[in-house]
Amino acid sequence: MSAMLEAEHLYKVFGRRPDEAVERLRQGAGRDDLRADGTTAAVIDASFTVDPGQIFVVMGLSGSGKSTLLRMLNGLLEPTAGHVRFAGQDLTALTDRELRDVRSRKISMVFQHFALFPHRSVRDNAAYGLEVQGVPRAERERRADEALALCGLAGWEGSWPDELSGGMQQRVGLARALATDADLLLMDESFSALDPLIRRDMQDQLLQLQKTLKKTIVFITHDLNEAMRLGDRIAVMRDGRIVQTGSAEDILLRPANDYVASFTQDVDRSRVLTAEAVMDRHVRGDEADCDCPTAAPDTPFTELCAISARLSHPVAVVDRGHAVVGVVPRQRLVGFLGDEPSSAPATCHTRQDNGGEKEVAHA
Ligand SMILES: Nc1ncnc2c1ncn2[C@@H]1O[C@H](COP(=O)(O)OP(=O)(O)O)[C@@H](O)[C@H]1O
Ligand SMILES: [Mg+2]
Repeated sequence: MSAMLEAEHLYKVFGRRPDEAVERLRQGAGRDDLRADGTTAAVIDASFTVDPGQIFVVMGLSGSGKSTLLRMLNGLLEPTAGHVRFAGQDLTALTDRELRDVRSRKISMVFQHFALFPHRSVRDNAAYGLEVQGVPRAERERRADEALALCGLAGWEGSWPDELSGGMQQRVGLARALATDADLLLMDESFSALDPLIRRDMQDQLLQLQKTLKKTIVFITHDLNEAMRLGDRIAVMRDGRIVQTGSAEDILLRPANDYVASFTQDVDRSRVLTAEAVMDRHVRGDEADCDCPTAAPDTPFTELCAISARLSHPVAVVDRGHAVVGVVPRQRLVGFLGDEPSSAPATCHTRQDNGGEKEVAHA
């Protein structure tokens, strides 16, 4: 599968003599070294690929360079160095006109404070991107209405923006992005201004939409919990650099450094981890030999806890081929919540030896 989007050693420097600054950064200088002479290294050597249909989340504190990175991905900002390839096309090599065309047809952007036009109906707001493309009225209204319905706003097409709550206005923003049929959605803190419950609702809605739409999405957030809920892959930025790229599980269980680890302390592990992530892989065997409660590798952590609370036996993790691929004893569950996976050897109940615990196999 070829990547939908590729960032290759992207740099963005604001200020004087940016090329010189990039040279210094390549030789290992940091942001602080450059700041002394009034130059801001907003993005430093960022590389990643996003596959079609993936949600790629960029997570980092305010000022870490997320928005600058995102603006280079659709050509709104020209990189000081590096390349952006979108659907195989090098954006940095396009003329302004070609770039505008790609931006209006293939890439949509949803911002944090989505500015709706107050004197346009909800429908006309959602249809705005299509209007820019020159799509005839009847068709753009049809597509806008479809997108609004997808975003849970059926029935509100004729309303005015100020009749909608903040969360609903944000949905209009999402509908506008979806209506254009763009392959790539760039979302910059799109849910950050919303109240927690509405925010969660929007996250659910996006995940739900994504199941059928399968857009390629780059989603920016400063919230690691949000990153972990949404991201197929997550890049963590610090001071302009990407310090780790991986799945939610990678970030949580295998943080690249203390900085990333410090973020993960606030994450609700029970929402991220699955049986596969927490199981002891040393125990293997056949489901038929095993007298434990079983769970699939992708069983959520909270479900494992429920099983474990009812039965004292360890939970055997069984794949589709009925092989035991690991076990999760109760103390291991507790250990993962507390950030300290148990190192005690895990065992699995066997049918032959129903009284005591016997290992099926210990690799
Ligand atoms: N147009 C600009 N001119 C100068 N500095 C900028 C500009 N845009 C962003 N910056 C600086 O670049 C750094 C990264 O900013 P930004 O990409 O907005 O971070 P984030 O979105 O993670 O909050 C910040 O120090 C910011 O002040
Ligand atoms: Mg920003």
